[in-house]
Amino acid sequence: MSTPLVHLHVEDRIATLTITRPKALNALNAAVINALHKHVVDLDGREDVRVVLLTGEGQKSFVAGADIAEFANHNQQEGQALAQRGQDLLFTRIANAKKIYIAAINGFALGGGLELALSCHVRVASDNAKMGLPETSLGVIPGYGGTQRLAQCIGKGRAMDMMLSAKMIDAETALAWGLVNAVSTQDELMAEAISRAKGYLRNSGDAQAAVIRAVNAGLDHKGGYDAEIVEFGKRFTSKEFVEGTEAFLDKRRPSF
Ligand code: CAA
Repeated sequence: MSTPLVHLHVEDRIATLTITRPKALNALNAAVINALHKHVVDLDGREDVRVVLLTGEGQKSFVAGADIAEFANHNQQEGQALAQRGQDLLFTRIANAKKIYIAAINGFALGGGLELALSCHVRVASDNAKMGLPETSLGVIPGYGGTQRLAQCIGKGRAMDMMLSAKMIDAETALAWGLVNAVSTQDELMAEAISRAKGYLRNSGDAQAAVIRAVNAGLDHKGGYDAEIVEFGKRFTSKEFVEGTEAFLDKRRPSF
């Protein structure tokens, strides 16, 4: 039997979802997105779960992005569909979930990986974590809500700089900028996430769900997410996108 791509553990009303694709640094391919989607839907309906921790297997990577090999040969229509499908199945769904989602960022959170963490309601990171939206280095743009949620989280100026430079920031900077709520050692990361989850369990779940709905109601500018999906799709017609993704897969620097 093959290993599941996402592992679920439930204890004391706290569920932990672990993405288990460490050889590809837990990159999000369609199978991982589908598996996560199923869990998110199931967990929303479970009365014995109030908080969900989301993390990646291993000590190197939370999620290193959307799977570049999977989309490198997409055309515009397929590129646009990839972004639309991912947002509908997973990213928007987590952001609007009935449970509280905490991302436990245990290493690289890049591209779709940082977008996944940004969809969660709260983030904690290990001190070796590195975060960024490096899509422009591939000739593409974030397609899973990152252009909207990063700016909402850390402000337009810092978000613009992160996306235009494609540079990563470390955990201390992420803490100072409010991108993560806490930083701990790698060994203590899950204990930190659980301790936060237990703190949330002391308060009213109904009221917390209402907070999530109210905050999202003010921030969900549908037009922004739709524009991101269309712009993401258009990148697939560009020679620079072909060069960027080929360069990554050939393990060389792109020439733009
Ligand atoms: N997609 C597919 N495979 C990936 C991947 C990704 N996003 N990230 C890493 N991998 C694979 C590598 O190809 C490599 O596979 P092989 O062993 O088969 O060669 C394996 O994971 C290990 O990676 P590296 O050898 O590159 O490890 P490293 O320590 O040298 O570098 C890294 C680590 C800096 C994270 C580097 O892997 C990297 O830059 N990854 C890509 C990050 C990125 O650009 N993410 C954005 C993706 S686009 C996106 O997410 C679009 C969207 O919004 C929808």
